Amino acid sequence: MNNNMVKVNVGGCSSFVNDADYQKYVQKALAAYDVLKAESGPGNDFLGWKTLPVDIPASLVSDCETIRDEWSAKGIDLVVVIGIGGSYLGARCAIEALSHGFVRKEGVPQIAYAGNNLSEDYLAELMDLAAMRNTACVVISKSGTTTEPAVAFRIVKEYIEKTYGKEEAARRIVAITDAKKGALKTLATQEGYKTFVVPDNVGGRYSVLTPVGILPIILAGFDMRAMLRGAAAEREALLLRSEDNPAVQYAAMRNLLYTEKGKKVEVLVTFNPKLQYLGEWWKQLYGESEGKEGKGIFPASVVCTTDLHSMGQYIQEGDRVLFETTVTVEKARREVLVGTDGQNLDQLNYLAGRHVEHCNKMAQLGTKLAHIDGGVPQMEITVGQLDEASLGALFYFFEFACGVSAYLLGINPFNQPGVEAYKKNMFALLRKPGYEAQTEEILRRLQ
Ligand code: PA5
Repeated sequence: MNNNMVKVNVGGCSSFVNDADYQKYVQKALAAYDVLKAESGPGNDFLGWKTLPVDIPASLVSDCETIRDEWSAKGIDLVVVIGIGGSYLGARCAIEALSHGFVRKEGVPQIAYAGNNLSEDYLAELMDLAAMRNTACVVISKSGTTTEPAVAFRIVKEYIEKTYGKEEAARRIVAITDAKKGALKTLATQEGYKTFVVPDNVGGRYSVLTPVGILPIILAGFDMRAMLRGAAAEREALLLRSEDNPAVQYAAMRNLLYTEKGKKVEVLVTFNPKLQYLGEWWKQLYGESEGKEGKGIFPASVVCTTDLHSMGQYIQEGDRVLFETTVTVEKARREVLVGTDGQNLDQLNYLAGRHVEHCNKMAQLGTKLAHIDGGVPQMEITVGQLDEASLGALFYFFEFACGVSAYLLGINPFNQPGVEAYKKNMFALLRKPGYEAQTEEILRRLQ
């Protein structure tokens, strides 16, 4: 009996692969599953994420709730969350999925993100917003040395100190970083900031269920305990070793399509714009975990039906290197029905009385068939509804499946050596101390 909150359906791939091949890949996935479970694979010193849903102490959640309450008492209505990659995408995914798309909840601060780019316009506009608001900041960097968040933090910190005074600034800034090392740790200690630790054995893109995700999600007004419960339930279900294990099925099918069928690109599809950032989080998780040694499925994402009017043409008829994985939420949270119009000038009366979500579901089914006809295999990942528990389950499911999938591919999912390449060139161009020797050579190559 499969108790997973996250269901996987590989049926939309059946006209592209034969069952014997699929069964072969299920066995390969089970072997990879065993490696992940036994913690005997490469990168096994970064497996702390596996037990986070049951390891996170209740006191950590309460500490974060205390900060939420203290900041609320001060009337703080803007929290700038500074971080890049795994240090913000999980929180942003959860917050955007759970928040009202247009209206801010009374008494809950707006969350704005910074440090995920180096755009001057972006930061200038963010500071315009800060000037209109009562502002606090959470700065997140596991290494404590990443340039993008460090630059943003210097600017936001200066603003908060100037506006509220240095002493009060220390009460409006929280740092989430390594327990001992890194510039951010040194700075936070010196300035007396409240600090949370990113565990040593959890990599950035696996850190959403550490303070990296927990604090911003709580500050945004959501129930982190429910999210951890959802993740714990999914973990429990995934511990069952079986050919029906959804993580095994997902890893098996995507690797079969990639290795044997030339499907090099996986498009994560959602028909709910609230899940746009699930796509962003998932792309980082899979791209940074698997894209190594000249291997790896390229992760892309689309939001439908929006993107059916842009990327839809390519997906239907472009280079046949794609397969799609659609994340479906079974039940909408709200109800909007199409009304009846006496004149029917828009000719929509055939939809009168229908839920908009019914139209969305029919669009989804129609798209699935059209894309199968166009040569694009289809997988589906389904959760019941969009809430904290389902998101916790989805986070855990995708992390676990990523470990299984990368081990199946023969890749260490827990490092990211390639991310360093651009940094060396950027540091040399910025004339960072220690990089002077490379500057002339890089300038010559750029001519
Ligand atoms: O997954 C990862 O490890 C990375 O994407 C990091 O999260 C990202 O580079 C940010 O690193 P840091 O938290 O050290 O600033």
